[in-house]
Amino acid sequence: TGMFTYDPGFTSTGSCESKITYIDGDEGILLYRGYPIEQLAQKGDFLETCYLLLYGELPSKAQKEDFDQRVTNHTMVHEQVARFFQGFRRDAHPMAVMVASVGALAAFYHDSTDINDPHQRMVASIRMIAKIPTLAAMAFKYNIGQPFVYPKNSLDFASNFLRMCFAVPCEDYKVNPVMAEALDKIFILHADHEQNASTSTVRIAGSSGANPFACIAAGIACLWGPAHGGANEAALQMLAEIGTVDKIPEFIAKVKDKNSTVRLMGFGHRVYKNYDPRAKIMQQMCHKVLAETGHQNDPLLHVAMELEKIALSDEYFIQRKLYPNVDFYSGITLKAMGFPTSMFTVLFAVARTVGWISQWSEMIQDPQQKIGRPRQLYTGATTRDYVGIDKRK
Ligand code: CMC
Repeated sequence: TGMFTYDPGFTSTGSCESKITYIDGDEGILLYRGYPIEQLAQKGDFLETCYLLLYGELPSKAQKEDFDQRVTNHTMVHEQVARFFQGFRRDAHPMAVMVASVGALAAFYHDSTDINDPHQRMVASIRMIAKIPTLAAMAFKYNIGQPFVYPKNSLDFASNFLRMCFAVPCEDYKVNPVMAEALDKIFILHADHEQNASTSTVRIAGSSGANPFACIAAGIACLWGPAHGGANEAALQMLAEIGTVDKIPEFIAKVKDKNSTVRLMGFGHRVYKNYDPRAKIMQQMCHKVLAETGHQNDPLLHVAMELEKIALSDEYFIQRKLYPNVDFYSGITLKAMGFPTSMFTVLFAVARTVGWISQWSEMIQDPQQKIGRPRQLYTGATTRDYVGIDKRK
């Protein structure tokens, strides 16, 4: 009953009011709580960005210390969670393990999470920011057959994460500060992006009053797809398939061919019809990390740079306003840091957790919030009478 607008993909539907993230897609502007992403990435750190997204303001020095401490206190996961991992096949995709293990946290923190209590909401938020990196590192270690490395709480967020991923027993491990800084910035760049598919998924899941850990698991499931968080994995695969600079024209021709479904991965965005501001920072970071690890001659980097140059001057891409997005350079960077492609989307999930949980919390407090329930345009059969099975042809 009543009128509604048919809007597949919700391209022109505003689903909520929000004070968290602002994007101007035509100008290529991204603000978290009013602060330009460039300034946050250059001057701040990830946990400060988390505080900003959650509370709406940058923390004072004392607030920052207290917040860092609270996150640090929650980095361990129950030992039963570690046992839960043993049930997975070794070769399970770490994103599958993330969907399951983050969902499993709901079983550990259901009765203690009253979503209408602001204090319990914040505890749940901090638990997720702290524990999801631990689960991510465990998913990685399990996948490569190494023992889990427990969090080391004297380290900063990114350094602790690198250590949980790359330290091995009986060997010294020293965090490379260039890598830690780069990873911290990657986390800042991915922390929130207003009502994208996974965030909308979290909001819709949460709109029924569901457990927040389960809602974040739903967000992780959505993020997994190649059109969303899986794009950096797909972008890197694409660069590898192209292989060398001389193969680029052939590939571009395939992308432009009307009859082919090949896309230039890491290019284009639903909202940005200009250079993604995150892509610029990512590109600089990519050069820095590759110089540090001695990968500056990685042929994939040359393919990426040349591809970008050609695409930005090609009529097909100009007409459709297709520019590099954040994922175009992040795959090469993460690869140089030592992460396998299967971990890329997992790292995105680690970073986006704070955005999802901030958006979820905002929704819970919104007096206008209703259960998310889109309508449809029914195109199926009209009313017909049931025919007994013996009479059917
Ligand atoms: N390569 C070639 N052509 C493209 C691309 C691309 N990457 N993206 C869009 N187009 C074309 C598309 O074929 C269509 O052309 P035509 O009008 O001739 O049919 C036109 O541009 C509009 O495309 P659309 O599919 O209607 O645009 P959309 O807003 O629905 O899609 C997108 C946005 C991000 C899904 C899409 O650009 C894409 O598939 N990009 C590649 C995957 C990717 O890099 N995703 C990461 C997004 S950023 C990080 C994140 O959100 O997780």
